[in-house]
Amino acid sequence: MTTLLTDLREEILELKRAKDATILAHYYQEGEIQELADFVGDSLNLSRAATKVTTSTIVFCGVHFMAETAKILNRSKRVLLPDLKAGCSLAEAAPPEKLARYQEMLRIDGRKFQTVTYINSTAGVKALSDWIVTSGNAEQIIRRVPEEYEILFVPDRHLGQYLSELTGRKMILWDGACIVHEIFSVGDLLALKRKLPHSITIAHPECPANIREHSEFVGGTEAMVRFVGQHTTPTDFLVATEANMMWRLQTLYPQHRFHPVPGITCACNKCPHMGLNTLEKVRDCLIRGEPEIHWQPEFERAKEVLERSLL
Ligand code: 13P
Ligand code: SF4
Repeated sequence: MTTLLTDLREEILELKRAKDATILAHYYQEGEIQELADFVGDSLNLSRAATKVTTSTIVFCGVHFMAETAKILNRSKRVLLPDLKAGCSLAEAAPPEKLARYQEMLRIDGRKFQTVTYINSTAGVKALSDWIVTSGNAEQIIRRVPEEYEILFVPDRHLGQYLSELTGRKMILWDGACIVHEIFSVGDLLALKRKLPHSITIAHPECPANIREHSEFVGGTEAMVRFVGQHTTPTDFLVATEANMMWRLQTLYPQHRFHPVPGITCACNKCPHMGLNTLEKVRDCLIRGEPEIHWQPEFERAKEVLERSLL
């Protein structure tokens, strides 16, 4: 590690103590951020961890909807996001006004439905929902929706299709997708599988069906950690999710080898939104006490739905 990086790490750790802050980080953050965090996890465990933080400030190293969720579940805490522009293509795909209009149209048509929303969405959309799911609890929640209701699944059509196959529930799918998981190349995956015939492919359920059907395991990031942990003999894993996940897996399980499934246009799939957070911005937000996520009126109803679904 360079002296500059060591100094920056030391500075952040010192500021964290001085400002009474806890750093939460998603698995898709760069390794140097994951290393420094007090807690690293998937969306579900990060939301739960946020409710147990004892410091007055949370620095959320992830994207906007994650920090917003942490604030919704902890009104009294100050929640900082190192870069406020860290968005998500899924959250962008479902503006609340558009969802409200669509729900109204379904009601006028006499359809009886419940809205099940992926946590990768804005608070306004969560407030219009009956349930919130993450990759870690989606199947469980879908099974709680009474059979007499249709399911409107928002905003990830690939995750929705996967859950519909898994549970046998018919769904009306919103037309959103993750820009990272949507672009894996099935041709390159098959070529990699031929090159490494004993490898095991693990894919996130945000991937389209053509990638999932060539995968031995489909699951969210936490499920991936558990699945890989069950293998004791050195194994080649082909990983179809955001590339920083491999840093985590390699750190936890050094006996295995992890290979990224390439994207159609690039060799490695990093989320440009997650990548906006850097160690420098973590330090700066601790010094300035901003950018901060401020409480909004729609958080009240979103909180009810989140607590019912996740806690
Ligand atoms: P999980 O870590 O909950 O599986 O979510 C993946 C993701 O795309 C977060 O943006
Ligand atoms: Fe959104 Fe995809 Fe980035 Fe996750 S990886 S934050 S789903 S764009």
